[in-house]
Amino acid sequence: MSNAIYEKITKCVEAIREKTSFEPDVALVLGSGLGNYAENIKIEAEISYNDIPGFPVSTVPGHAGKFIFGYVGDVKVVCMKGRIHFYEGYNVSDVVLPARVMKMLGAKILFLTNAAGGLGQGFAAGDLMLITDHISMFAPNPLIGPNIDELGARFPDMSEVYKKDLQEVIRSVAKENGIKLQEGVYAQLTGPSFESPAEIRLLGNLGVSAVGMSTVNEAIAANHMGMRVCGVSCISNLAAGLSENPLSHEEVQEAADKAAPLFTKLVTESIKKFQI
Ligand code: HPA
Repeated sequence: MSNAIYEKITKCVEAIREKTSFEPDVALVLGSGLGNYAENIKIEAEISYNDIPGFPVSTVPGHAGKFIFGYVGDVKVVCMKGRIHFYEGYNVSDVVLPARVMKMLGAKILFLTNAAGGLGQGFAAGDLMLITDHISMFAPNPLIGPNIDELGARFPDMSEVYKKDLQEVIRSVAKENGIKLQEGVYAQLTGPSFESPAEIRLLGNLGVSAVGMSTVNEAIAANHMGMRVCGVSCISNLAAGLSENPLSHEEVQEAADKAAPLFTKLVTESIKKFQI
């Protein structure tokens, strides 16, 4: 049976294949703070989302984003500079379309990064956090609707989305490079409003250490397809109610930019060490 979502994915893959035959092993989604990550890639090809028919693109002019294909060390990567968020108004199937496309281009590992509000014990703005697990039920599930059997099972297991061996690599890289690395559970909420202090207290009671507006949609879709997932959050701020200041996008961006050098190092050295 044909499935409109699957057809859209395969059309995007075909459009990309008309422009490059590069087959990445690792897919990297760049969150806030890693906007200049392309500097660390030996670039082989770049494809603007605008040039892929059907691909969800931002309606803000100049903010379309692009795929960057190339090498981190000897590792073949595809990077997403600019991700699709549910709060922008896209269907969740469009939010996860890029991850599905990157898998079909060859990527076996999905490395997710983001900026997040921190509520874990002892967390401070500027910390990096290894995502050990997630809480998804405050965000739409991207697998709702007819199952796309070509991609994965109807009821996929989610007991180890963030693969232990990849976590171990990231931990060891942090240690070797003297990078402080927190660990914890990431919860995705829809946004775009930040959380209320009561919501943050609730999430704390649920065992959440970091909260944001991305990542879990993509992680679920990737796990469904059998990709090996890992993720790191940049704790750009303490979550609502945990500091005196009201939250602002500017504060998030500023803190993420400040953490960028260490974040970049952690991501780059980890990718080089992953067992593909
Ligand atoms: N809440 C949700 N998303 C975020 C935050 C936050 O505090 N900081 C960065 N992204």
